Amino acid sequence: MRNTSIQIQPIAGALGAEVHGVDISQDLPDQTIADIRQALLDHCVIFFRDQTLDVDQHKRFVRRFGEIFVHPNFKGTQADPEVVNVVRNPGDARIVGEHWHHDTTMVAEPPMGAVFYAMEVPPYGGDTLFANQYLAYETLSDGMKSLVNGLRVVHTDRNLAGPRAAVSKSRTTAVREDADWRETINIHPAVIIHPETGRKALFVNHSHCVGFEGMTEEESKPLLGYLLDHGHRPEFTCRFRYTTGSIAFWDNRCVKHMAVNDAGPFRRVARRIQIQGTRPG
Ligand code: SIN
Repeated sequence: MRNTSIQIQPIAGALGAEVHGVDISQDLPDQTIADIRQALLDHCVIFFRDQTLDVDQHKRFVRRFGEIFVHPNFKGTQADPEVVNVVRNPGDARIVGEHWHHDTTMVAEPPMGAVFYAMEVPPYGGDTLFANQYLAYETLSDGMKSLVNGLRVVHTDRNLAGPRAAVSKSRTTAVREDADWRETINIHPAVIIHPETGRKALFVNHSHCVGFEGMTEEESKPLLGYLLDHGHRPEFTCRFRYTTGSIAFWDNRCVKHMAVNDAGPFRRVARRIQIQGTRPG
């Protein structure tokens, strides 16, 4: 039950809703924050339009939902370690978040979410896709559910950062690739229980997951590949078209997302701040 004047307008059957009637730049009352949190839990990703947000206001909003998460692979590449400016310039062959993923799952306690503020938007292209991982889990057969409930998955950042990944030469938003960089690996359950809703969600993603605990990567491939692709069936997804001042706020515990690399000759700039999460379980 909402107690403030915000209005919620779903944008797809699976997930995603626009939230109207709120100015994120303001120091919002507790009840409004509670209603926004409830909208996030109900719709998995929420969107705000026509916002004007400086970096301090952006951080203040994020802190109402938790501590700011500092992304280890952007340390030293961004002026402010709490902020990632996601910039795509004309000619960039690669972009941040170009494959289906949960954010930053190679760490022990991945972010619970991110608040992504679009500052420069191409006239077309540059949308983000989102996929509901509750639905991804719930639509598995009973046999597959019991199989995946017993599996744990190896998450690494070795394909996303470090000298071997070598992504920074193809894109504007650089990551750490220095010789002191070290791979981060953690193991998380293939199915997690959302700590606030209590619902089960599939928790595997293309960017970080390389295999199941106790199996080789080769052995893991067929089932892992099936689960990865199943997770973004079209009926689990929504697609958000930004305009300048749009905000996407996703719940990283039950949503995978992917930036569409189709901005062609145009520049795209967004400011992303992540929120600290807890150990998936
Ligand atoms: C991200 O994965 O955080 C970037 C999303 C986007 O640029 O659309």
